[in-house]
Amino acid sequence: MTNKKKVILSGMRPSGKLHLGHLVGALENWVALQDEFQNYHLIADYHALTTNPDTSEIEQNSLDMLIDWLSAGIDPKKSPVFRQSKVKEHAELHLIFSMLVTTARLERNPTLKEQVRDLEIETVAYGHLGYPVLQAADILLYKGDVVPVGEDQLPHIEITREIARRFNQQYRPVFPAPEGKLTRFARLPGLDGRRMSKSVGNTILLSDDPTSIAKKMRTAVTDPQKIRKGDPGRPDICLVFAYHNKFNQAEVPQVRKGCESGALGCVDCKLNCANHIAEALAPIREKRKHYESQKKEVREILEDGERRARAVAQKTMAEVHDAMGIG
Ligand code: TRP
Ligand code: SF4
Repeated sequence: MTNKKKVILSGMRPSGKLHLGHLVGALENWVALQDEFQNYHLIADYHALTTNPDTSEIEQNSLDMLIDWLSAGIDPKKSPVFRQSKVKEHAELHLIFSMLVTTARLERNPTLKEQVRDLEIETVAYGHLGYPVLQAADILLYKGDVVPVGEDQLPHIEITREIARRFNQQYRPVFPAPEGKLTRFARLPGLDGRRMSKSVGNTILLSDDPTSIAKKMRTAVTDPQKIRKGDPGRPDICLVFAYHNKFNQAEVPQVRKGCESGALGCVDCKLNCANHIAEALAPIREKRKHYESQKKEVREILEDGERRARAVAQKTMAEVHDAMGIG
């Protein structure tokens, strides 16, 4: 028996510089799992076009995101990092998969419906409808066993499993049935209490320096009943407290006590919290500085990842063609 490592395929659309939510929700997990599993880290640049065909920022956003991955501790020697657009097999397998799923099935995708509603899309592009089909190709080219995702992505994993099953039945068993692994974390709220999101502008970026972290933290919403120092507060409804929980665990009991009794004022509490966040991000910021001054090294890391990803993808495509009898 071989004890081959299970494969994790994780992907993100190139959204530029990443924020604390990405760190706590995804990156920390990726880093923790990089020894136990064989990881592949995909920059889904074609997927970014499904909702916006403008490509002017894609390249820079991809590099910024990659630098944050590396700075957060992804080891590109263990885990290839690569752009979807640079491994042509993604497009090829997407085409084959598109024959194995009905338009009705794709129209039922709740994530698509949500996007259409939220982005007020009037007519859906063919490629947008096929978003999960491309995602299935992303995952199955590497025979991903596990896919770490947020809740909104679970329907896409379900479609991926259906497509894998369909292919295996129609031709020959080639693909595993990947499982979605819900990133299990109490989502860090944004500074306004809503979901942390770059488009809302309520984030702390991994690249923010201590001064801007403190400045942003000052705007964070707290318990509205606690207006001045001396007023008792309710830490459990305060998002600053959620940040203490994550970045300043040692002082949590003390912050709770001070908040509840009123002895601790929100201004001091926030400043203290900002300092701990800045401290936690210091090693990431250091590495970021290195990579930002070494653009060539970053490019080489990416090209190396793309070569290795391509080798795996080509091997899978050979199996696919063979199974289909069109070798
Ligand atoms: N759809 C994912 C998202 O928006 C990004 C993505 C593309 C992905 N391909 C993937 C995630 C493959 C996991 C596996 O977050
Ligand atoms: Fe929130 Fe701290 Fe103010 Fe309490 S003291 S309400 S935890 S900011």
